[in-house]
Amino acid sequence: MCGIVGYTGSRQAYPVILKGLKRLEYRGYDSSGVALLKDGELNVYKKKGKVAELEESMIGNNIDAQIGIGHTRWATHGEPSDRNAHPHSSASGKLAMIHNGIIENYALIKQDLINKGYEFKSDTDTEVLLNFIEDIQQNNNSTLEEAVRIALKRVTGAYCILLIEQDNPDTIIAARKGSPLVIGIGKGEHFLASDASPIIEYTKEVVYVNDYELAIVKPDELILKNLGNEKITPYITKLDMELAAIEKGGYDHFMIKEIFEQPSTIFDCLRGRLDAKEGVIRMSGVDKHIDQLINANRIMILACGTSWHAGLIAEYIIEELCRIPVEVEYASEFRYRNPIVNKGDVIIAISQSGETADTLVALEKAKENGAFIFGVVNAVGSSIARISNAGAYTHAGPEIGVASTKAFTGQLAVLMMVALDIAKHKGTISDERYKSLLLELEEVPEKVNAILKNAEDIKKIAEKYKDASDFLFLGRGYNFPVALEGALKLKEISYIHAEGYPAAEMKHGPIALVDENLPVVFIATKDMYHEKIVSNMQEIKARKGKIISIVTEGDTVSPGLSNDFFAIPPADELIAPILTVIPLQLLSYYVGTAKGIDVDKPRNLAKSVTVE
Ligand code: F6R
Repeated sequence: MCGIVGYTGSRQAYPVILKGLKRLEYRGYDSSGVALLKDGELNVYKKKGKVAELEESMIGNNIDAQIGIGHTRWATHGEPSDRNAHPHSSASGKLAMIHNGIIENYALIKQDLINKGYEFKSDTDTEVLLNFIEDIQQNNNSTLEEAVRIALKRVTGAYCILLIEQDNPDTIIAARKGSPLVIGIGKGEHFLASDASPIIEYTKEVVYVNDYELAIVKPDELILKNLGNEKITPYITKLDMELAAIEKGGYDHFMIKEIFEQPSTIFDCLRGRLDAKEGVIRMSGVDKHIDQLINANRIMILACGTSWHAGLIAEYIIEELCRIPVEVEYASEFRYRNPIVNKGDVIIAISQSGETADTLVALEKAKENGAFIFGVVNAVGSSIARISNAGAYTHAGPEIGVASTKAFTGQLAVLMMVALDIAKHKGTISDERYKSLLLELEEVPEKVNAILKNAEDIKKIAEKYKDASDFLFLGRGYNFPVALEGALKLKEISYIHAEGYPAAEMKHGPIALVDENLPVVFIATKDMYHEKIVSNMQEIKARKGKIISIVTEGDTVSPGLSNDFFAIPPADELIAPILTVIPLQLLSYYVGTAKGIDVDKPRNLAKSVTVE
């Protein structure tokens, strides 16, 4: 959460920073700002609202500078406002800083500073850290770099900070713990950002900064140190990402672009791993650690939000195919309780961003207890990818829309392959079933394509129900987590209250909500639960609920009970969730846009939740 950008070199810094902030806006859009330094003059400009509002307010300002930092905020300490926007200026006005994260012990530090006579212009923890740094710098008569190092040893919490100093014409000091930082290496210039998207068009050579590292960045020099002031050799990585992947490419929103990308992202995810003709799955992350995986006493899946829903589906699949007990837990719960984790346990961590703070800290805790971590991550080189002992990338490409879509189907494809690979080695799957699932999986991109061709049908359904105040989503078995996901998607981007339930659970409470105004979405594909879910549909129909169903092509029963239905190609029930979720993604998109909501930046949300 919060996006940060920095530049030092010979170009004009402001356009680089502004463009970068637009790319990082998915990380928060409560306010934004820039600090620009030229000839000893440090100017800070900031504005509540989206980056476009900052851009407008900048007309007429002096933007001539070759060094600067910029920030787009997801508010934690202090309401979204101009004065709480970053960058913050220090008490003397000589330093400017941006921050992504939370300083947990800010209150104590603030009190100390107030006792010394400091006054604060904002309600943020960031301004506290900044003045703390300046206080150390002044008292110790030290350089900014030294003061930052001393201050960071005393703070708890998470941070990625960038600082510039009036008297230091070309240097950015940066440091991270828990919040991401990438440094792009150009010729006589450096770019700093929360992820690679603001950097990609200038250079493909990047350094991912690690926790507890501090960077001193000048146009021609990058020095990395740890907090003990020892130098670290920067490890340069080549970015495997194209500019087109982070642009809208003619679509109205990133979300719809990403929904429509799914045939190719799923194909990319399967490519080189799944060979249905040969009847093999090749996943180096699984194969290299196969003993650990087949001998696991149990598997725990840790994730948040949509990724947690993928985990629930994986639980059903892994237990069915591999006969290993699986528990799925919200990472945020796991990290604060006293869970039992044993040496033989395998943890599967699922995360699109690879930076979700709750998941990351839960993994650190599990690792300390000797668990083996297998990461299913989309963002290459991210913190969760790096902390994992092994793993498999989802290869969905950058996901920019705040609502996760293509990452989810990528996660399902990876988890299905992992389960099949383990089951094959463990001998818990018959050859026939293995081969048929491989063939089915191979057909998924084509089937997703077929579903997307009928997107207009979902649009019509969305227009019909867009004014409902509540929705219920019901599914059974493998499609129960899809119901949860459908409800989450709708809530996020249409602001309509929605709940997902196992269809049979409905009669234990939620049925009380049903009347002629309540749309109930059934995921009612042809599987072993079909007759049961048809009974649940009857129960809703009898109470005059409006039924929208996702059915299998050729099914005549469920459509007959539905006010509206959408048919998807037939699929094995283990594979079906990758298909059934697509119309639900479209439904939420079309409802959200019909209501005039900025679906890529829904209120209060941000992608990459790097705060607890
Ligand atoms: C929902 C959504 C969130 C994320 C959650 C975890 O559309 O995007 O619920 O799934 O914040 O994020 P990652 O997968 O990045 O760990």
